[in-house]
Amino acid sequence: MGAASGRKTAAAVTVFGMCGIIGYVGRTNSDQPLEVACEALARLQYRGYDSAGIVVANENGLSFVKRAGKLSVLEQALVENPLPAATAAIGHTRWATHGGPTDANAHPHLSANGEVAVVHNGILENHAELREELIQAGVGFRSETDTEVAAHLLARALAEIGSLPEAMRATSKRLEGAFTLLAVAADNPHLVVGARRTSPLVVGLGEGENFLGSDVAAFVARTNRALELGQDQVVTITADAVNVTDFDGNPVKAREFTVDWDVSAAVKGGYATFMEKEIHDQPMAVRDTLLGRLAPNGRMRLDELRTAESVLRSADKIVVVACGTAAYAGHVAKYAIEHWCRVPVEVELAHEFRYRDPVVTEKTLVVAISQSGETMDTIMAIRHAREQGAKVIAVVNTMGSTIARESDAALYTHAGPEVAVASTKAFLSQIAATYLLGLYLAELRGTMFPDEVRAVLDELELMPAKIQRVIDGEEAIRDLAGQMRDVQSVLFLGRHVGFPVAMEGALKLKELAYIHAEGFAAGELKHGPIALIDEGQPVFVVVPSPRGRDVLHEKVLSNIQEVRARGARTLVVAEAGDEAVAEFASQVFWVPPTPTLLAPLVAVVPLQIFACALASVKGLDVDQPRNLAKSVTVE
Ligand code: AGP
Repeated sequence: MGAASGRKTAAAVTVFGMCGIIGYVGRTNSDQPLEVACEALARLQYRGYDSAGIVVANENGLSFVKRAGKLSVLEQALVENPLPAATAAIGHTRWATHGGPTDANAHPHLSANGEVAVVHNGILENHAELREELIQAGVGFRSETDTEVAAHLLARALAEIGSLPEAMRATSKRLEGAFTLLAVAADNPHLVVGARRTSPLVVGLGEGENFLGSDVAAFVARTNRALELGQDQVVTITADAVNVTDFDGNPVKAREFTVDWDVSAAVKGGYATFMEKEIHDQPMAVRDTLLGRLAPNGRMRLDELRTAESVLRSADKIVVVACGTAAYAGHVAKYAIEHWCRVPVEVELAHEFRYRDPVVTEKTLVVAISQSGETMDTIMAIRHAREQGAKVIAVVNTMGSTIARESDAALYTHAGPEVAVASTKAFLSQIAATYLLGLYLAELRGTMFPDEVRAVLDELELMPAKIQRVIDGEEAIRDLAGQMRDVQSVLFLGRHVGFPVAMEGALKLKELAYIHAEGFAAGELKHGPIALIDEGQPVFVVVPSPRGRDVLHEKVLSNIQEVRARGARTLVVAEAGDEAVAEFASQVFWVPPTPTLLAPLVAVVPLQIFACALASVKGLDVDQPRNLAKSVTVE
């Protein structure tokens, strides 16, 4: 892969999170703030596009327009409801996490008196408690979002303190979770204030104007001078100054850098393809999916699960319905949920389930996994299940999607928009989300003690950093892909949770590099597939942890020897320190030590990187592979 592809420049800002945000201040009243905001939102649509809005500020106060739907709906609304000339603006394109994509839930969110407007990216973990406190204080809410809580808190702090930057610092200290907030206030249209914790925010430095953006794509067309912001910082921009402090008001010297990406590269976070960006987004996608799942009392909290606890307790069978990669996530979850909940879990391809007259009763719990929430095969499967009286829980990435709406409850994977057709970060988020569901069910059904659930959650919390460590070792995998550009067929083997990982690795290679690839349960080799092994046949093997069920590890080691003895090129994914595999491996891709059931979250990453790199080496369209659609909305 060339220097331009897959390499982030030294100055690159890590591009994570979900919504697109823009802030702007100029010297004089003009249409510039609105133009900059519209232009930025158009570039940021890949970060979220289920609703959008812009607010401008001038000496007469705040004026805003916001709409559910694509950005074109907002643009039309702005024609019908033109905003006045202004000196400042903030804008937002949303990827819904709390509250469906409606006009009311679109950003910006205003305070009760309309004097303060806020846009937000991230997840306020303590929004429920804060909302309750505000309602008790007589505040009326107009939306279902966590963001509106911040708008009211900020307005109350401003009324008390009188300075928007100071009020932002006071408010930020009360918020838990990941957030980027931008705010503008009617009493001073010459400044925009931002705050960030974990979610991205970067400053654009202009002449007589300054910018804030969720990433450099928001303003790189106007300036390539930028300031990087750190954790727990508040930034105040005016037309001619930028001031950065920590949440206690202590001044901070922000590092200036030059953005050496063009707009197209900026939209992909500096990567050559969305798929590379999304592979690198996986630590954040898993982290965001796990956020806010523990209530203050230490018990698991899955707010979205409207399904009555009695239904969850009494289910005598769980059936996962999904397609493609989502189905493989379901296969991984089967091992964990059966182990934790001691209830049978069947994983069915939605299009097979639908027509095989399955045994479904009102005691069947169906779990529909879908990134898009629009896969027709899966929609038809859940309709069939509900006709048979089953309860359906959707594990989806897209709020307001058909599958989310037609299910009894929806558990969201907070992976952010997945643009590349081949699914990566959604897959890891689906595993994380179904694991949360399994742990929730286990605690509810009493098959796991709360402290046991906590122990698994603690291990899950460590996974984003472990995934990042695998990504950091991507160079060796890219090199392997470069050596294998002419390969005609690749086999993938795994046992236990490694088996669906092998299937997913094969699917990635098929759909990205157009190479015949097949995933097998390693134990199946001797029942036929081993006849495929010839001199030099590449075989990826996903090896379970040697610290887990040692019989699994021994069996897979034997499988490696069996194929190696017949000339296979054994490409092994194994746990760092598992030196026993090295003797029989042509090459080893090490992953951090991880509990058996959580290992898929790291083991699949080398296979994703390999498929993506090989497709790039072959000059194929990584983001839009031939014959494929991101969402298969036909049966
Ligand atoms: C995955 O890389 C594929 N693009 C495809 O198999 C996909 O997972 C499948 O079509 C299901 O899509 P969904 O998750 O949006 O329902």
